[in-house]
Amino acid sequence: MRLAIFASGGGSNFQSIVDSTISGQLSAEVVLCVASNPSAGVIKRAETLGIPVHVLPPSFPKDYPGPDQPNELLQVLAEHKVTFIALAGFMKLVPGFLIAQYPGAIVNIHPALLPKFGGKGMYGRNVHVAVLENGETESGATVHLVDLEYDTGAIVLQEKVPVFPTDTPEILAARVLKTEHSLYPKALQIFAK
Ligand code: GRF
Repeated sequence: MRLAIFASGGGSNFQSIVDSTISGQLSAEVVLCVASNPSAGVIKRAETLGIPVHVLPPSFPKDYPGPDQPNELLQVLAEHKVTFIALAGFMKLVPGFLIAQYPGAIVNIHPALLPKFGGKGMYGRNVHVAVLENGETESGATVHLVDLEYDTGAIVLQEKVPVFPTDTPEILAARVLKTEHSLYPKALQIFAK
């Protein structure tokens, strides 16, 4: 499996996926990092690891052409012979042309137990604030297939973490993120096999 990881932030999930390919836990090769903005911390991580980076234009995907015209992103993915895409903290909605090119081969990780606490606006800190405000006693992480909506695709794997009455959004986020780091490689290995 030749993996491209799409990210917008610090890239700790990117790092854990690459680490799991190096340790042999995940039978895949991370061949490309696609960043949604030039200041994403993930870029430095990819450069340190010698993994090629493609930075999307700010207007992505609005400025992308129709199906019969050259499409820079699809070209880059083809150049690197990408067979599977993992979104890891990617803050843009995935356009239809990408889903059409990679049917059933794009997954995302979400920092809650979907279908609860998903959808538009449910990202980053907002998710953990909502979980705490709702008085949940457990949260977790979900890896799911990507479709044309936010967080609605079929669930691949989930892992729970406890929520404690003393949790702040930051403490809960850190607990969930730690779980993401082991869950995402496990979920990707299902596809790699
Ligand atoms: C993770 O919590 C992920 O679930 C969410 O964004 C965060 C990304 O963290 N979608 P990182 O950039 O992988 O450190």
